[in-house]
Amino acid sequence: MQIVVATIAHTPYAQIICDTIAESSKVRGTGIARRTPEYILSKMEAGNAVIALEGDTFAGFCYIEAWGHGKFIANSGLIVHPDFRGQGLAKRIKGEIFTLSRKRFPDAKIFGITTGLAVMKINSELGYKPVTFSELTDDPTFWKGCQTCKNFDVLTRTEQKMCLCTGMLYDPAKAKADEEKNKVKAPVFNRLKRIKERLFLKKPK
Ligand SMILES: CC(C)(COP(=O)(O)OP(=O)(O)OC[C@H]1O[C@@H](n2cnc3c(N)ncnc32)[C@H](O)[C@@H]1OP(=O)(O)O)[C@@H](O)C(=O)NCCC(=O)NCCS
Repeated sequence: MQIVVATIAHTPYAQIICDTIAESSKVRGTGIARRTPEYILSKMEAGNAVIALEGDTFAGFCYIEAWGHGKFIANSGLIVHPDFRGQGLAKRIKGEIFTLSRKRFPDAKIFGITTGLAVMKINSELGYKPVTFSELTDDPTFWKGCQTCKNFDVLTRTEQKMCLCTGMLYDPAKAKADEEKNKVKAPVFNRLKRIKERLFLKKPK
């Protein structure tokens, strides 16, 4: 399986990507926003998408969207073709698109909205935290993307405060602060180790 940053060379796959998203949306019966081939193409051209191929066969896809003047990034449109599900492919694709997002937009907060347990699990592993919609972008163009979802009436009724999707957010500044906080301080650790060794290890006679 090859997972690469998509380019215009992958143009022929735009239609199957859209068809697979549309089919999955029908089968699942819950919200997956539809995409047009032109939109998918624009992501490929901008180097803002990741595609998985088994030889020449389409296996999976995901792309980056920037919102609120680049303050927010969403990794959207995750799709794994039914023939390749249950093998950890979504996890690998999300890992690649996350790395690409961090490289291209290092200061942006990365977020997603989903009803899917698989995506929630993957996002959690990547360091996303569940949040209310108020923590996400207020860019109207992002929320317009929900119009093709069958639950859009819920979002409208709640004035965009909540819906069936859970919002998840990776905040790079917070992640860095948490990392610092959890870092083992070497001198403190070594001193503690020496004290414990003195207390609990018997000296050889
Ligand atoms: C959701 C989807 C992307 C998962 O793809 P996948 O390649 O089968 O997922 P993975 O094999 O990488 O699984 C990742 C994790 O999710 C779990 N998982 C996968 N599918 C699941 C499902 N339908 N329900 C619950 N958990 C699921 C896996 O067990 C795994 O968990 P683990 O880390 O504890 O082992 C795929 O089913 C799909 O394309 N569905 C239709 C489109 C869709 O729903 N996209 C998401 C829109 S938000």
